[in-house]
Amino acid sequence: MEIRNICCIGAGYVGGPTMAVIANYCPNIQVNVVDINPERIDQWNDDDFSKLPIFEPGLAEIVKKCRGVNLHFSNEMENQIKKADMIFISVNTPTKVKGIGAGQAIDLKYVEASSREIAKYSEGFTIVVEKSTLPVKTAQTIKDILDAESKSKEKFTEKNFAVLSNPEFLAEGTAINDLNNPDRILIGGDNKEAIDSLVRIYTNWVDKSKVLTTDLWSSELSKLIANAFLAQRISSINTISALCEATGANIKDVALAVGMDKRIGKYFLNSGPGFGGSCFKKDISNLVYISNHYGLSEVAEYWQKVLDINLWQQKRFVELIVKQMFGTISSKKIAILGFAFKSNTNDTRESPAIYICRKLIEEGAILNIYDPKVSQNQINKDLKGCKEDLNVPNNNKKWTFSNSLYETFNDTDAAIFMTEWEEFQNLDWSTISPKMRKPAWIFDTRSIIKKNVIKKYGINIWQVGSGS
Ligand code: NAD
Ligand code: UDX
Repeated sequence: MEIRNICCIGAGYVGGPTMAVIANYCPNIQVNVVDINPERIDQWNDDDFSKLPIFEPGLAEIVKKCRGVNLHFSNEMENQIKKADMIFISVNTPTKVKGIGAGQAIDLKYVEASSREIAKYSEGFTIVVEKSTLPVKTAQTIKDILDAESKSKEKFTEKNFAVLSNPEFLAEGTAINDLNNPDRILIGGDNKEAIDSLVRIYTNWVDKSKVLTTDLWSSELSKLIANAFLAQRISSINTISALCEATGANIKDVALAVGMDKRIGKYFLNSGPGFGGSCFKKDISNLVYISNHYGLSEVAEYWQKVLDINLWQQKRFVELIVKQMFGTISSKKIAILGFAFKSNTNDTRESPAIYICRKLIEEGAILNIYDPKVSQNQINKDLKGCKEDLNVPNNNKKWTFSNSLYETFNDTDAAIFMTEWEEFQNLDWSTISPKMRKPAWIFDTRSIIKKNVIKKYGINIWQVGSGS
């Protein structure tokens, strides 16, 4: 079956970049991205390409080239679903906040809503592709919703569906490169015609040897497990960072030595403030939930530890910051460098900076926060309702937003490097040093600052995995 018209439900961090790349490589396919959030669609359609809702290197250039040609963003759910031969579900799948499984299970309400819209508006044979990360067996739920509609006698509809799983492995900050050069394309399903249609789209730019086809459940589960394995490496290296600090070893050397073993590999061995982002915590929590659901409590406990270590790393950072600063940070001014959960993104979801800033504010510190891509408005949302400032009408009192990297250090007692932005890696310390109140401290949670340079200016420095 030749695909001429694609609809993607969800114009977020996955839907937007993924569809932009498909449009770029498939000029004969019309790609329509729809979303229930009108503000987000307006941002995707903004003539000022710096105002796209997502900052991702290389994305604006593709949107500039394809938008209005074969890439379109709109709220026209009904129309676009009707026209589509293939529909990607790329909506958010957050952790449930209440009810059964709260804090662990995935809330499938947006997936279910999308499936109902597809069931209602689609016409003829439609291939439905799960792009969102979903608990294993979700395809059955989608199929049940779609089948109920196609079998509905009263409506005499001529519609039928094939459901495929095609999880996305892109990482934020490198999304366009990851989409252009994926390690693999995973497609799960049981309808050969539908699978072939999707394979044909990807092989416009991806070598066929990288396309792996499996059954639906293996595909759905593989995505969760890939994220779990990546996160597990981060928790592993973070436990060792503490051991290095205690023993005088250096985490960078240890990671290098360990990673040179081909069987281990060098990636995902950077110790830091713990993993953030919208995926790891949510997906591992879900893995814990699913394991318990199937009565596999040992499996659940094993993966729960990966999450526990992540939080432990953040807690121990707060404790050591307070301890190093003579046991109190009350009314002390602290610069926060970086608020995004990693560099090259404006995304702050589950960013370690949120937890750490909230705890510092609770201890009475006054923060001055700088991030090259995160807006003041976003930080405001993330730090809303901090304990310390519950009675303070103006939430900004406990933190200020800095537009200028160097001014962020003005009158501060300490600076904490939270995100590994490139612009933090070669700072002019002769300019910064006089701005800070002595004795001044640098806490480098990413190990990006050159220790010997800092020391020349009489500033104390603590780094993850090598200490002070
Ligand atoms: P997101 O929150 O950035 O975007 C989801 C979008 O879906 C939102 O704009 C929301 O308004 C829209 N939406 C929700 N319900 C809708 C509906 N019924 N109709 C139309 N639009 C609807 O989320 P994201 O980061 O793009 O993640 C999407 C999925 O992809 C999740 O399952 C996530 O786990 C997975 N994933 C994310 C990443 C990542 O790096 N962010 C990577 C791989 C996979
Ligand atoms: C992750 C997966 O990498 C990706 O394949 C999946 O599709 C979505 O989830 P993402 O969360 O966007 O991608 O970024 P990633 O690069 O994995 O980083 C996640 C977190 O781990 C960040 O907070 C990052 O700073 C941290 N991290 C990563 C480390 O602390 N050390 C590392 O060595 C690597």
